[in-house]
Amino acid sequence: MKLLIFGVGGFVGSNLAEHLIEQGEHEFVGVDITQEKLRGIEGPNFRFVEGNISDESLADELVADADVVVDLIAYANPSIYVESPLDVVRLNFFENMKILEYCLRHQKRLIQYSTSEVYGKRTRDAEYHDNHSDLVMGPVQKQRWIYASAKQLLERIIHAHGIKGDLDYSIIRPFNFVGPRFDYLVPAGTKGGPRVFSHFLSALLTGGPIHLVDGGGQHRCFTHIEDASTAFTTILENPGGHNEIFNVGNPDTNISMKDLATLMQDLYKDLTGIEPANEIIVIDGEEFYGKGYEDMDRVPPNVDKLMALGWKPTKGLDAIFREAIKYYIDRPEMTASILSS
Ligand code: UGA
Repeated sequence: MKLLIFGVGGFVGSNLAEHLIEQGEHEFVGVDITQEKLRGIEGPNFRFVEGNISDESLADELVADADVVVDLIAYANPSIYVESPLDVVRLNFFENMKILEYCLRHQKRLIQYSTSEVYGKRTRDAEYHDNHSDLVMGPVQKQRWIYASAKQLLERIIHAHGIKGDLDYSIIRPFNFVGPRFDYLVPAGTKGGPRVFSHFLSALLTGGPIHLVDGGGQHRCFTHIEDASTAFTTILENPGGHNEIFNVGNPDTNISMKDLATLMQDLYKDLTGIEPANEIIVIDGEEFYGKGYEDMDRVPPNVDKLMALGWKPTKGLDAIFREAIKYYIDRPEMTASILSS
């Protein structure tokens, strides 16, 4: 198949590109405004196109030439939802809608990355089911939810085209993927900014404090980025992947942020022999991210639907975080800039 990946230069996209090159099954074009995370990721089946999706003629032409379009374009850091809610809607809804429109125009299959955050606040269920769980948002005044609302509406429009019969689609709801090239590192003591793995890792590398937002009692299930990439190819290649929504996550990795901090400190010590001495600071969510932040205690994903297609997660918490931390420890030049700032 000939794939077109919008947002190939991000964390998920660069890891997916690496996987598709290794697999060698599909030819693909990747589009992004930046290729920093793609350094060294090259292969005969991959062509990079530097471009912005707001360049409508380029995007339209590339879609016309593909069999399957993969949309990874998104802001995915909660700090942005709080600071720049309108930019989040512009990119995560309106720009994504354009990609949907190109797919409709050229009758191309769309694989849309969404988010586990569409489930919103914890519901009565003990797990999130891709087909049955309610999607519960917080109040409008908590603008954190603008991101999940935008993604939810996009999902609903895509699904509506699916039932109308004019779109072949798959929707992927990622549950906290972790791996190389994740977000970005930050100087000691930074608030807001990237997601939790980058914060805790930066603290370990700089000796700075670890912030436990609202006490760190909230839970997440983390997913090894390689498991995330095999989930993608399963959905792409399996006939059962069409016109379905899939949770992509590992239900066995449920952990509180407080325990994650301890786990990452233990792994860091194991990998470097250095005993971490980070100050642990409990901080209010709105003080860390800004006014309008609200958090949730997220429950595990149900992944039965995806497992029925033959996929299963292979790596647990230890491997997910050990391998991701090691990636950065092995590349001291990546930490040099934050250590000197
Ligand atoms: C984010 C995105 O908003 C989701 O759309 C996306 O699906 C998800 O990441 C993902 O990676 O899949 P969230 O899980 O809230 O959602 O992402 P993080 O920013 O990594 O936060 C996880 C938890 O860690 C939150 O409870 C947060 O308050 C906490 N946190 C974060 C800390 O305790 N300390 C920090 O330094 C940073």
